[in-house]
Amino acid sequence: MTTLTINGVSRTVQSDPDTPLLYVLRNQLGLNAAKYGCGLGQCGACTVIVDGEAVFSCVTPVMLVENRSVTTLEGLGTREQPGILQQAFIDEQAAQCGYCIPGVMMRAQALLEREAEISDAAIREELEPHLCRCGTHMRILRAVRRAANIMRAKRPALAGAKL
Ligand code: FES
Ligand code: FES
Repeated sequence: MTTLTINGVSRTVQSDPDTPLLYVLRNQLGLNAAKYGCGLGQCGACTVIVDGEAVFSCVTPVMLVENRSVTTLEGLGTREQPGILQQAFIDEQAAQCGYCIPGVMMRAQALLEREAEISDAAIREELEPHLCRCGTHMRILRAVRRAANIMRAKRPALAGAKL
């Protein structure tokens, strides 16, 4: 049994300790935002945040996240109340097929929570590990830039709050 905190809720799962976190999220907890792409840590589709850092959940054994805090795209907001980054992706229509987007968003979210001032070059560099076969790169960049600007403007009011 492994206990982990997913999107602020403590969950205990029964699985082999070597099971990839991605499988636990999707198959045992019904959290399907993180996607299976390559399964090899090479495409970014499965990215989630663990204790503030973006990780490939397809190559992260669940035992390594025991008692740690995991955030998936489901933790950023809801369809009715999207988070700031989610709304920015909607506003910029930054998805085509959408398969890569949950992973892209989680790495971007980790960056936005870490840095107050972010250059476009830094966003590009951060998102380097993510493959988007649809070629929506410029819209993704605009969406992250939009979210970064909104978060920076709100930062004093959001001090200590979840972005
Ligand atoms: S599915 Fe994890 S990096 Fe591709
Ligand atoms: S939007 Fe289709 S892979 Fe990125």
